[in-house]
Amino acid sequence: MLKDQGKILVTGGAGYIGSHSALALQQAGYEVIILDNLVYGYQDLVETVLKSNLIIGDTCDYNL
Ligand SMILES: NC(=O)c1ccc[n+]([C@@H]2O[C@H](COP(=O)([O-])OP(=O)(O)OC[C@H]3O[C@@H](n4cnc5c(N)ncnc54)[C@H](O)[C@@H]3O)[C@@H](O)[C@H]2O)c1
Repeated sequence: MLKDQGKILVTGGAGYIGSHSALALQQAGYEVIILDNLVYGYQDLVETVLKSNLIIGDTCDYNL
């Protein structure tokens, strides 16, 4: 059983580098939350492989 490391936000987590980072962080015990605008990313990758919480939105959106 992994130690619970808490929550971590990965911006661009539906893309290439972000999804690999998210997987490594999950394996290290973090609960990963992904923020991605899905301009290039893959929603199904986040939902089926990473099984992470996905927030669809832009990092430039101040209110979000
Ligand atoms: N198979 C491979 O070897 C392979 C595959 C893809 C990419 N690459 C390389 O990896 C690099 C690119 O990877 P990457 O992960 O940087 O790019 P990426 O496009 O894969 O990921 C960026 C992610 O950020 C998201 N995003 C962009 N702007 C955003 C914003 N303002 N708010 C929220 N989300 C936003 C995009 O939707 C995308 O999901 C390049 O060097 C490329 O050549 C290699």
